[in-house]
Amino acid sequence: MNKQFDNKDRLKGKVAVITGAARGVGAELARYFVQSGARVVIADILDDRGEPLAEELGDAAYFQHLDVTSEDDWEAAIPEAESRFGVVNVLVNNAAILHLATIADTSADDFRRVLDVNLVGPMLGIRAVTPAMRRAGGGSIVNVASIDAFDPHNGSVCYASSKWGLRCLTRVAAIELGMYGIRVNVVLPSVGSNEMLFPFIGTAIRAEAMDLDADPSLIPTDRLLREEQIIDVVRFVSFLASDESPSCTGADYPIDRGQTAGHMILGLPGDQPITE
Ligand SMILES: NC(=O)c1ccc[n+]([C@@H]2O[C@H](COP(=O)([O-])OP(=O)(O)OC[C@H]3O[C@@H](n4cnc5c(N)ncnc54)[C@H](O)[C@@H]3O)[C@@H](O)[C@H]2O)c1
Repeated sequence: MNKQFDNKDRLKGKVAVITGAARGVGAELARYFVQSGARVVIADILDDRGEPLAEELGDAAYFQHLDVTSEDDWEAAIPEAESRFGVVNVLVNNAAILHLATIADTSADDFRRVLDVNLVGPMLGIRAVTPAMRRAGGGSIVNVASIDAFDPHNGSVCYASSKWGLRCLTRVAAIELGMYGIRVNVVLPSVGSNEMLFPFIGTAIRAEAMDLDADPSLIPTDRLLREEQIIDVVRFVSFLASDESPSCTGADYPIDRGQTAGHMILGLPGDQPITE
């Protein structure tokens, strides 16, 4: 991401665990967090992607092999982070997997596997990090969902159900943890890394689903590249992680170019640009 950032100290003093940070959005989060002054634990199961990223980021980051579904991995990871960087005060639950199939073609195992990573994982992460955040006198937890959690579509029963659940987990956690100064929010992006989609392109995802001209967002996609949208997500997560958002908790934040705002009905007022 070759962008100049002006918030160099936004996350100074923060120790952040970012799950799913070995690649994609999580890797961009790790880079941006370090640029903003945080120390970062790159937590993922992809050692061969996470270790080189940690090397790239230097002393302010290290790679931690962590399967978000494993209670043992969480129990080991938080004390390790504390001993290396000090008290953990930010958690970004970003790791997720995708599965695309109709309900008719979805097995109970498919459904459980996705819920396990996308919903049980963040719950275990919140539970594991809470004692450290209480000791720190507060903290910020940011969950990464998807617009599918507002606006599900055919084929998304596993993924959208898990992300819808993540919105509820966010609210319950915000209610229970507010008394300790811990804020919990969820972002709902409309884009992420193509690597998540690759296994399904040409099979579950046919060409028309990738047709950018059919994108229903309020901002034309040709003016906003995928990479620029990911930067929006990263900046927004860093704002929620920082001390600049003390009144933000228990809330959903779509980052979707207006895709879930509503829709244009041609033939009603406001459907054409003003020309004079
Ligand atoms: N890709 C998209 O189009 C899109 C759209 C909206 C929201 N999102 C969300 O953005 C977030 C980041 O996804 P991405 O787009 O970068 O996809 P990605 O597949 O590139 O990244 C997901 C990361 O999670 C890791 N992961 C998977 N299972 C794990 C486990 N059990 N334990 C630890 N790590 C695990 C993967 O190894 C990978 O590094 C996800 O929460 C995703 O749901 C993605």
